[in-house]
Amino acid sequence: MAESRTIGVFGAGWVGLVTGGCFAELGHEVIVRDVVPERIDALSTGRLPFHEPELPEVLARNRERIRYTLDADEVAGADVLFICVQTPPTYSGDADLSFVWTALDDLPRVEQRQILVMKSTVPVGTGEKVRAALEARGLTNVGYVSNPEFLAEGTAVRDFMNPDRIVIGSFAEEDAALVEALYSGIETPIVRTDVASAEMIKLAANAFLSTRISFINEIANVCELVGADVESVAQGVGLDHRLGPHFFRAGVGWGGSCFGKDVSALKQLAGNSGYHFQLLAAVIEVNELQKRRVISKLEKHLGRLRGKTIAVLGLAFKPNTDDLRDAPSLVIASRLLAEGALVRTWDPVADARDRLRGATQCATVFEAVTGADAAVIVTEWDELRGLASKEVHDVMARPLIIDGRNLLDPGETRRAGFAYDSIGRPSSPFEGLPETAEQETKVSS
Ligand code: UGA
Repeated sequence: MAESRTIGVFGAGWVGLVTGGCFAELGHEVIVRDVVPERIDALSTGRLPFHEPELPEVLARNRERIRYTLDADEVAGADVLFICVQTPPTYSGDADLSFVWTALDDLPRVEQRQILVMKSTVPVGTGEKVRAALEARGLTNVGYVSNPEFLAEGTAVRDFMNPDRIVIGSFAEEDAALVEALYSGIETPIVRTDVASAEMIKLAANAFLSTRISFINEIANVCELVGADVESVAQGVGLDHRLGPHFFRAGVGWGGSCFGKDVSALKQLAGNSGYHFQLLAAVIEVNELQKRRVISKLEKHLGRLRGKTIAVLGLAFKPNTDDLRDAPSLVIASRLLAEGALVRTWDPVADARDRLRGATQCATVFEAVTGADAAVIVTEWDELRGLASKEVHDVMARPLIIDGRNLLDPGETRRAGFAYDSIGRPSSPFEGLPETAEQETKVSS
């Protein structure tokens, strides 16, 4: 068990609440400070502003050790202050650090030494800038540590409590030691390094994960052309211990609030330093094109999409979250609407009604597929595993499934009477449906 410390957390967003909740679980006293009154009110009465499995239980279980406040002065007694504010991309693709600077402005002046710990993802060099800003403000008794988060949405609590590693970058050994001690009780390798390297580890990890996915997506696209099956290819390649099986699932492209932002931030960071990071430019472009491949697959089967009804199944950028940021579903549904298709969406938790005007959001999968000319699996929710059922077959106008996540078994789906197309695996055409001249044109173009 860790020696109990008082931890202040700036930012009651997803990273801040997971960090605060999990440190409370480890036995520390936690004060979470945010500037949005509604958010603090909601949290104080036990309501969570987003969907994250296990987090409500962690916060409830440690209620005695967590306090929520609007007042920055309440963190004056904290030994360690975690900065967990957002760092959205600016128009130039750089990270917007204004929330970080506002948090610094709000730091209470205290007698005892405090350590500021950066959890937010920031450009390399931010630590140096913060150190200079602290000095300029006369805050000489404030230490600085970079301790990036590697939490994935939907599994954040598990990722915090069972991490692959903890990265601690510092200017002073004793500050790093104090931060490392906060994690006592968690068995994992600790990477102690300088601040710039810690900042780079975070960006490089996300950039490499995105690169793996764009790579397997391109392999999938080639598989389709040469008659190979990407699922077998990924398995056969991933069993090489030098390569590994993870983050090797082909699909409709990566989304979420982190990959796009961080890949772009790293590319810009390199560019600003005079280096053109060609590989990352390709990784981003491959991902943009990958989201749109579903449209050409639909056209291959249905011809022109104007007036066709398409069920878009799954809206969140991945299962077990309601997060729609950078979700491939938004690009796919928007393209379909632009083509003149009638779009019916379904998701168990994400609500895209204000982002997809013109689409109909349905309460159930069954409602979404009723009368549809095609059903597209965009997010691999468990609820969709049974999609190839007789009931669904009978209510669809045409039994066509485009599986953007390779969720279903091709053989079973076809035996259930569906035409089925997925990513990087052989497709099956409609049988018994007359092809129109229009469709023939599209297929051959
Ligand atoms: C990601 C990283 O995985 C975390 O380690 C990191 O801490 C986090 O960003 C962050 O920077 O805060 P997250 O965005 O929650 O986490 O989601 P992932 O599970 O990484 O998935 C990202 C996207 O990649 C999803 O759209 C997912 O569907 C897609 N993906 C993932 C694939 O297309 N194929 C795969 O094999 C894996």
